[in-house]
Amino acid sequence: MENKLKLSFDYGNMMNIRIGKNGFSRSDIENAEAVAKKAFDSFQKDRGKGMTGWSELPYNQKDIIEDILKTAKEIRSKYKYFVVLGIGGSALGPLAAFQALKHLHYNELKDSVRNGPKFYVEDNVDPERMNALLDVIDVNTTMFNVITKSGSTSETMSQYLIISDIIKKCLDGTAKLKDHIIATTSENSGNLIKIAKEENLKTFYIPDGVGGRFSELCPVGLLPAAVLGIDINAMLEGAAIMDKASDKSNIYQNAPLMSALLKYLSMKNGKNISVMMPYADSLKYVADWYAQLWGESLGKKFDLKGRIVNCGQTPVKALGVTDQHSQIQLFNEGPDDKVITFIGVKKFRSDCLIPQGLEKYENVNFLCGHYMSELINTERDATAYALMTNNKPSSMIMLDEVDENSFGQLLMFFMLETAYCGAMLNINTFDQPGVEQGKNATYAMFNRPGYENLKAEISKGISRDDEFIIGK
Ligand code: PA5
Repeated sequence: MENKLKLSFDYGNMMNIRIGKNGFSRSDIENAEAVAKKAFDSFQKDRGKGMTGWSELPYNQKDIIEDILKTAKEIRSKYKYFVVLGIGGSALGPLAAFQALKHLHYNELKDSVRNGPKFYVEDNVDPERMNALLDVIDVNTTMFNVITKSGSTSETMSQYLIISDIIKKCLDGTAKLKDHIIATTSENSGNLIKIAKEENLKTFYIPDGVGGRFSELCPVGLLPAAVLGIDINAMLEGAAIMDKASDKSNIYQNAPLMSALLKYLSMKNGKNISVMMPYADSLKYVADWYAQLWGESLGKKFDLKGRIVNCGQTPVKALGVTDQHSQIQLFNEGPDDKVITFIGVKKFRSDCLIPQGLEKYENVNFLCGHYMSELINTERDATAYALMTNNKPSSMIMLDEVDENSFGQLLMFFMLETAYCGAMLNINTFDQPGVEQGKNATYAMFNRPGYENLKAEISKGISRDDEFIIGK
C-alpha cells in the first residue's frame, strides 16, 4: 500500500503580505483558530454517525469490495457498454473518476486497447440525449447501472422505465432485466429496492449515512470505477491517507481544516464565490463534483438554531488553461467577491514536446523545445501570479500526479473541507431541502399520488402574466 500524502495545500496567496487588504494577516488566522477547533471537534464527536457515514467508507467496505470486483470482472468480460443512469451525487462522482483516471478519449480507443466496456453517464432527461445514447449503444450488450439513493428521483426512474421497457420489448423477449440492469440504492427505503427485488436485479446498497454528494467512495462510485478497471482499493487507500493526515485540530497541520477556515472567513468578508480551477483536463469533472458538494452542502436558508442565514458560497467551475481565455479577465479585474482554488499536477501521465520548426519567428520560437506539461504548469503559475498582483485571493492544491491514490486523497480533502466549513457556519451540511423542493414540485405537477395539495398550491402560484413576456 502506498502510504504517502501526494497532495499539498499552499494558501500563501490568501495572505495580506501578498495581496494586501484582501488577504488575511497571521493574527486574523490565529484569532479564528478557536472556530476551526470547534468545527473539528464537533465533526470528530459525531464522526461516522448520522450523515457522516462517508468518513468511514475507506475502512469498512471489505466484503462489499470483493463483490464489486467480482461483478465488475464479469461485466468487463461480457458487455460492450456500461451506462450509469443517475443524477446529482449518483452521477458526478462516477463521471469525475472516469475523466480523472481513464484515457481522455477512452470510448474512442480501439476495443483491444480499451480492454473494457465503453462508458456513459446519463445525468439528464433531455430526450435528444437519451435517443443519442440509444443510437450509439447496443442494448443487447449493455449493462445499465441505475443509481438512486432515494429510489424515486424522477429523472433516474424515468430513465429506468425507458430502458427496462426497451430491454423487455426489443430483445426478442429472450432478455431478462437482471442481465442488463444493476441497481445501486438504499437497502431499506424507496421504490427501486422493491423493483429490484421483484425483478431479481443484482443490487448494491448506499449506506444510510452517506448522502448523494458524499457517495463516490461507496458502491455508487466504486462499481462504475471497477468496471472501468480503476483500482478502487488504491482510491480508498488514498482517501484514508488524507483522512489520517487531517486528524489534528491544529489548522497548520490539517489542510482541509485550514482551507475550510479560509473560505469561511472569506465568506464573512463578502467573498461569496468559490472558483475551482484545475489545470488538467483529467480533473475537469472534479470541479463539477466539487460544485455540487460545496453548493448543495453549504447553501442553506437556516442555521442549526433555525435562524434565517441564507449562507453559502457559489461554486464556479473553471478549467486551466482554457478559462484563461474567458473567465480569467473577470477573476483578475472584476469584483472582490471570489476565492479561487487552483489544482495543479506536477507530473502528467504523458507529455508532448513542442518541436522546433519556426526558428525565424521569434515570437513563436520561444515555445519550441519545451514540453506541454511545462507550458500548462507555467501558465498556471503565471495566472496565480497575475491574480496575486491584482490582490485577488487564491490557493493552490498541488497533486504529485493524478492516479487512484491521489484522486482518493483529493476527494477526501474536499469532503472534509465541506464538513468542517458547514460546522463553522453552524448549518446542516448534509441535507438538501432546496433540492427536495424541486423534486416534490415535479412530483406534484406530474400528478404523483400524495402530492395533491402541493399541486393545488403550485397551480395558484404559477400564472402566465403576459405583461412580463416579450416575444409571445
Ligand atoms: O446530494 C444529494 O443528496 C443529491 O444531489 C442527490 O444525489 C440527487 O438529488 C439524486 O438523488 P438520488 O440518489 O436519491 O436519486
